[in-house]
Amino acid sequence: MSTIVLIGAQWGDEGKGKVTDFLAQQADMVVRYQGGNNAGHTVVVDDRVFKLHLIPSGILYGQKQCLIGNGVVIDPAVLLEEMDNLDKQGVSTNHLRISPRAHVIFPYHKSIDQAEEEYKGNSKIGTTNRGIGPAYADKASRVGIRMVDLLDQEELEEKLRYAVEIKNKMLAGVYESTERIDYGQVLEEYTGYAKRLEKYVADVSVLVNEAIDQGQKVLFEGAQGTLLDLDHGTYPYVTSSHPIAATACTGAGLGPTKINKVVGVAKAYITRVGEGPFPTELHDDLGSLIRERGHEFGTTTGRPRRCGWYDAVIARYAARINGLSYLAVTKLDVLSGLDTLKICVGYRDNDEIITEFPASLKKMANYEPVYKEFPGWQEDISGVTDFSQLPPNARDYIKHLEELSRVPVAIVGVGPGRKQTLVLKELF
Ligand code: IMP
Repeated sequence: MSTIVLIGAQWGDEGKGKVTDFLAQQADMVVRYQGGNNAGHTVVVDDRVFKLHLIPSGILYGQKQCLIGNGVVIDPAVLLEEMDNLDKQGVSTNHLRISPRAHVIFPYHKSIDQAEEEYKGNSKIGTTNRGIGPAYADKASRVGIRMVDLLDQEELEEKLRYAVEIKNKMLAGVYESTERIDYGQVLEEYTGYAKRLEKYVADVSVLVNEAIDQGQKVLFEGAQGTLLDLDHGTYPYVTSSHPIAATACTGAGLGPTKINKVVGVAKAYITRVGEGPFPTELHDDLGSLIRERGHEFGTTTGRPRRCGWYDAVIARYAARINGLSYLAVTKLDVLSGLDTLKICVGYRDNDEIITEFPASLKKMANYEPVYKEFPGWQEDISGVTDFSQLPPNARDYIKHLEELSRVPVAIVGVGPGRKQTLVLKELF
């Protein structure tokens, strides 16, 4: 049995697409299990840039089975556009399968996402406006529409009629919006999507468990990151799913006994998009420098990402919540040329040093990060192919990061390309 769950150990955008793509080389199957097209995974193959939102990054290898599990919320228009784009670039989607239990995003989810953010004003979450929260809310309220319903015209008509009626009442009455959803138009549009997607729908839980039982290598590709988790993240500035390792089980339909390893992806620094607390945020020129060098602008929304120093309190928290076996550290090359590097080892709260990530955002707002400083390196490391070739200070930085995070580092990324990946430990 060889299964790896790969998750984001920070606030998302850690470079999971690249690490998934790297590990997918050896995998037989790649599975998405939560989130939706709020995710954006960038993969660079031979100077070609692929931006994937819903389809597992493994698709780029052609022969891998790529599955979208029940825990994902699917915007069919986005999925089909992504499939068409891949097709145009010569990438086959024949091996894609979608769970009939996955919930579908409708136009009213996007309208409500937007209306709710506007209504909240200054206390908005800063969502991606893709309808993710409202779709998961409908799932929990048991009024969601699943892929299996989309394929059944009678079910679709009945469920959609109810949903549109109630959402229009919400838009008018609660959010005082003038927007209305047209039932007939949505029905026609989604009936068309159903026809195109039907052949891809299959029982993902059965496929995953069969693959594991046959000894195939299965990679579970998480989206977003631990601190955006609905329970364990910086609530309410979180997404509406559970981007932690345990969700691979609920979101794809397998038991925890089937998971071998959990790999947390973390940048050599840290970023976040949207609102919410961020103890190590750099508000100065250095923050802007990291943003420019690291191309820290959202794959999905294009928003500039907030940048800061690596936070080992967060790394240890992610290690505990996810049971991390290893870390994959990305974008080390972005830190080249800096004289001094810092890693946050705790937060100062008046006379007290906090070393466990807190639940209270109010308290966190007053915390001052406590840093350890390390000397930087000046060399360009983007062409390095082996960890031993890194400048000594870069190797030391990784060693300190590893010790302070209390998780061994298995992979170090020194650039966006497939080849710019240093392997310290084989994972599959
Ligand atoms: P939502 O997932 O669109 O509801 O957005 C909720 C929060 O999660 C916002 O702060 C988003 O910026 C953040 N978020 C959602 N998806 C991602 C992602 O893939 N990377 C980074 N942040 C994300």
